[in-house]
Amino acid sequence: MKTTLHKTQNDLPKPVRRAMIDLLNQQLADALDLGLQAKQAHWNVKGPHFIGLHELFDKVAEELEEFTDDIAERAVELGGVALGTIQILSKESRLSAYPLDLTSGQKHAAALSDALAQFGTTTRAAIDPAAKAGDADTADLFTEVSRGVDKLLWLVEAHLQAKA
Ligand SMILES: [Fe+2]
Repeated sequence: MKTTLHKTQNDLPKPVRRAMIDLLNQQLADALDLGLQAKQAHWNVKGPHFIGLHELFDKVAEELEEFTDDIAERAVELGGVALGTIQILSKESRLSAYPLDLTSGQKHAAALSDALAQFGTTTRAAIDPAAKAGDADTADLFTEVSRGVDKLLWLVEAHLQAKA
């Protein structure tokens, strides 16, 4: 969605800022959806590992909130408009819809792992285009988010990996 580009003394060229704002807003829609999916898991998980998973899913949501804030604010720093309304993200998010009928910890951990992996993939894929466009700072932000999401994926996915 094309929005007004605000005047700024930021010296990145206009076309670079425009491209980065679009990239940031796409990642923002996915990240906001992912944060809500983590909350959905936090609220609805049941079973023997309830308390650990209930708290872990909340930690995931909290960390994503920090990432979404940084992504949204970077779009605004570049002269853009952060697109973070529920109407925008329901249209723009590329994540699969979170299933509404899950109860067990294993199933919630699997569903949230899938969502984290999807977001991790697109975040990592956004690093190079940002660097190539000449915006090392946006590339750095995506690198930081991508590293954080890899860690969150590990924390959730570990519940699915025990073999014995
Ligand atoms: Fe809560």
